Amino acid sequence: MLRFLSSKIIFFWMKSTACAHSNIAIIKYWGNLVDEERIPLNPSISLTISPLTTKTTVRWGSRTYRVKLDGKTVKGDGKDRIVRNLERIRKLANFDGKAEVVSINSFPSGTGLASSASGFAALALASSKALGMKLSRRELSILARYGSGSAARSIYGGWSELTAGETSQESYAFQLAPESHWQIHDIIILVSKKEKTVSSEDGHKLAKTSDFLSSRIKSVRRNLPLLRSAIITRDFDLLGKIAEKDSLSMHSIMLTSDPSLIYLEPETVEIMKRVKEWRPWIKAYFTIDAGPNVHLLTIPHHREKLLRKILKIYDENQLIECVPGRGAWTSKKHLF
Ligand code: DP6
Repeated sequence: MLRFLSSKIIFFWMKSTACAHSNIAIIKYWGNLVDEERIPLNPSISLTISPLTTKTTVRWGSRTYRVKLDGKTVKGDGKDRIVRNLERIRKLANFDGKAEVVSINSFPSGTGLASSASGFAALALASSKALGMKLSRRELSILARYGSGSAARSIYGGWSELTAGETSQESYAFQLAPESHWQIHDIIILVSKKEKTVSSEDGHKLAKTSDFLSSRIKSVRRNLPLLRSAIITRDFDLLGKIAEKDSLSMHSIMLTSDPSLIYLEPETVEIMKRVKEWRPWIKAYFTIDAGPNVHLLTIPHHREKLLRKILKIYDENQLIECVPGRGAWTSKKHLF
């Protein structure tokens, strides 16, 4: 009886909950040096964005791995990807047992918004903390990166950079500036709520088939110091120009891969053109991830003007407004 009770107590202590926000990359990560370890081919810089959040509770000590996301049991490849990460953490802690994971997203699933960044950042923090590990932010970013490259950056609040080293230990994220540094608005226009047909995971594998990849990597290396200084000096026009240029450069790699990847929809292109038309009066710049949805970046003074223009064309429920958010954090309110 006493043994049973003590094991219950141990398992209670082996539970932890963490939350993390998603992020939007200004210089994007596209393509891996090593696919299995998600060692990126190029460095990337992003802004962690609130309110898009994943909350995850992990409890170690079960006989099998069980994973639930937004109330549904996760099976197949989705589960395998999470289990691979849990196994890595379990071995690091030298723990012999499996875990139960329950996770919820604050944003509706199936909106085409990437939840892997917030998801794997929250998982890295919750699962390591539940095993009593006190990892540095850098170590957490490496663990999160194994699950999803962009997740490494969601460990930090505000602006962060993911390095592209030659080994896993050299490929980590670090913070460039905290969330309080600069008030930026990111208005996301949901062009399509459909699940994408080619995942980022498969897309990254195609990057090397594009003839233009080496020139993209050269331009990323040129733009990195410029973007870092745009962030530090709060130069919005420079940041916006780099954001547009880099997302177009990433999409040109996708379009010229073999087979080609076309994430853009006619409406995506329509918004891109309109933003350019509005630009003399409204400071707003677009960036687009691996999907058709558009992120419009603006500053407080121009937010209302931009929203008025957008709402003439799109419905309110197609918009999500984000602001700079904090890095991954723990919570005492468990999901089970
Ligand atoms: C276009 O991090 O989603 O959003 O590692 O397979 O999960 P996986 O890929 P992911 O790729 C991000 C692609 C991007 C650009 C970026 O966020 O840097």
